[in-house]
Amino acid sequence: ATTLGASAAEKGRYFGAAIAAGRLGDSTYTRLLTTEFNSVTPENEMKWDATEPQQGRFTFTNGDRILNQGLSNGSKVRGHALLWHAQQPGWAQSLSGTALRNAAINHVTQVAAHYKGKIYAWDVVNEAFADGGSGGRRDSNLQRTGNDWIEAAFRAARAADPAAKLCYNDYNTDGINAKSTGIYNMVRDFKSRGVPIDCVGLQSHLGTTIDSSYQANIQRFADLGVDVQITELDVQQGGNQANIYAAVTRACLAVARCTGITVWGIRDSDSWRNDNPLLFDGSGNKKAAYTSVLNAL
Ligand code: XIL
Repeated sequence: ATTLGASAAEKGRYFGAAIAAGRLGDSTYTRLLTTEFNSVTPENEMKWDATEPQQGRFTFTNGDRILNQGLSNGSKVRGHALLWHAQQPGWAQSLSGTALRNAAINHVTQVAAHYKGKIYAWDVVNEAFADGGSGGRRDSNLQRTGNDWIEAAFRAARAADPAAKLCYNDYNTDGINAKSTGIYNMVRDFKSRGVPIDCVGLQSHLGTTIDSSYQANIQRFADLGVDVQITELDVQQGGNQANIYAAVTRACLAVARCTGITVWGIRDSDSWRNDNPLLFDGSGNKKAAYTSVLNAL
């Protein structure tokens, strides 16, 4: 096939992009979005600060724009992210203890219920593990409500939207290392105790190298009985950008339970990074990295 989405579909996968509601009026952007991609993720519009700016007052206007853009194009929609230490509304940042726990679980319930039946996979919890060698949890206001906050969130999400795949999503997990092993141990524990979890998201914000254990890491999660998704792929330009994109694509295709890849934006000018990490240049032209991914699919 001649597009990323159609080529991925031939392999039983999806190829998605993070998109922003504020860019949907840009015709080059929407042309690339609708021709090349068959999954969308809201870059910011479904985060806690965007969806519950005041406690108990939910605003889904921009999240719904992303949802409807995706559904009207026949795409999957990945929900991102129900709970995260960052991009919390101010009111949540000032809560702690039982009040924060109850607010967090209510947030999961209300947002997942609003999108019930529409979301392919939710990032239920984002970035809860610490960097470095500890393999343990990141300190955060949510973590300080008790170590069981993650399983409580997954149970609430399952109750609110039984059809959505429920994912744990994180970065610097792009190989077998202390952080990804900490997550691996959590998933194994959840599986053994019947805590609902269906997938692990590997963000894959990459620099100029790819870990030699990238595929083996995907495989070990798959072997636990969860899907794996590459959820936020972008790769620094200036090194082996095209080769690294191809290596990620091949690694996902090599593992049956790696169900799809999402790039974190469309054009370099849409990226949150300043190192031109995406598949299309600022004018919307296909880069070498684009061709490299298409050939690998
Ligand atoms: C980023 C967005 O791209 C930016 O627009 C925003 O200012 C900050 O968040 N990990 C994640 C994403 O899970 O939600 C982040 O997105 C990038 C890192």
